[in-house]
Amino acid sequence: MANDKGKIKGATEIPKIIWNENQQRFETEDKKAYLEYHLKNIHGNNSQIMNILHTYVPPFKRGLGLASHLCVAAFNHAQSHSLPVIPSCSYVSDTFLPRNPSWNALVYKGDVKSSM
Ligand code: COA
Repeated sequence: MANDKGKIKGATEIPKIIWNENQQRFETEDKKAYLEYHLKNIHGNNSQIMNILHTYVPPFKRGLGLASHLCVAAFNHAQSHSLPVIPSCSYVSDTFLPRNPSWNALVYKGDVKSSM
C-alpha cells in the first residue's frame, strides 16, 4: 500500500502530522491517529534514543498508509535530532522498516537493555 518514504498509492492528500512534544507523540490534527514514543538516555553518556512504543490508527482509516506517514514524521524528526530509534512497536519493526529499508540506518545498534 505504501511505497518508500511512506507515500500512499492512489491517495490524493498527504495528511498533516503534528509533533506533540509534551505527550511525546506524532499525531493527526484530530489526534485520533498517533505514534507514541519515549525518549531515554543512553546509559553512560548524555545522548538520547527514541523508543517508538505504539502506533494507532482508528479502524475506519486503516490500510491507507496513515501509520506509514506517522512513522515517516517520527523518523524524519529522529534523523534531524540525531536520535537513534528503537522500533518497539511491531508495526514499525515488522511492516514499516521492511517496506522502507532506507530508514534502517537510524535503528539503534547498541544493547537496548543496558541503555534502559
Ligand atoms: N504489526 C505489524 N504490522 C501490522 C500490524 C501490526 N500489529 N497491524 C497491521 N499491520 C500491517 C498490515 O499487515 C498492513 O499490511 P497491508 O498493507 O499488506 O494490508 C499494513 O500494516 C498497513 O499499513 P498502513 O496502512 O501504513 O497502516 P495503518 O494506517 O492501517 O495502521 C496500525 C496500522 C498497526 C497502526 C493499525 O492497524 C492499528 O492501529 N492497529 C491496532 C494497534 C496496533 O496493533 N498497533 C501496532 C503495535 S504497537
